[in-house]
Amino acid sequence: SPDDLARAESRIALTPDFPTPGVLFRDIGPVLADAGSLATVTAALAAPFEGRYDLVAGVEARGFLLAGALAAATSTGLLPIRKAGKTPNPTASVDFALEYGVATIEAAGDLTGRRVLVVDDVLATGGTLAAAVSLVEQLGGEVAGIAVVLELTELRGRERVPQAHAVFTA
Ligand code: PRP
Ligand code: HPA
Repeated sequence: SPDDLARAESRIALTPDFPTPGVLFRDIGPVLADAGSLATVTAALAAPFEGRYDLVAGVEARGFLLAGALAAATSTGLLPIRKAGKTPNPTASVDFALEYGVATIEAAGDLTGRRVLVVDDVLATGGTLAAAVSLVEQLGGEVAGIAVVLELTELRGRERVPQAHAVFTA
């Protein structure tokens, strides 16, 4: 319900100048820690894509938490997309820029015939999710959807991932 969503949103914690000066960091930790908020957010992430995916992909590290919750709640498989150097025998690798740094993501396996819902906590500049989409496609999968808990609209990540579905915006 709108009340449940508002309660969940109110738990997002704001920290100025983390991890670097000038960044106002939004932490979904307190949302995850509250059973009702986790259930509400998980349901809201999945709802637009119901029946249209059979695998949930999440980007290390906070995306893992949401992907796990979503895969368990909707009885699908789970694909961890990891930062560089953590995956034995990666079959795809994508370099990208972050709001505060650079990174490489990797994953293993073959996603031919899989319909993949890509999830993350925050859509900031969109570099991470755009890279995750490329990675899923490199692996042969079809991106069935992109879902985030929070879109930071002023960073204009939507220009890179126009199809993203956001539960909350700030
Ligand atoms: C954060 C966040 C998203 C990404 C969003 O992850 O969890 O994955 O940044 O930023 P973007 O839209 O500008 O790419 P981070 O790289 O800090 O990794 P972490 O989850 O391991 O802390
Ligand atoms: N929170 C979480 N991840 C992020 C943020 C944020 O505020 N900005 C860029 N990545």
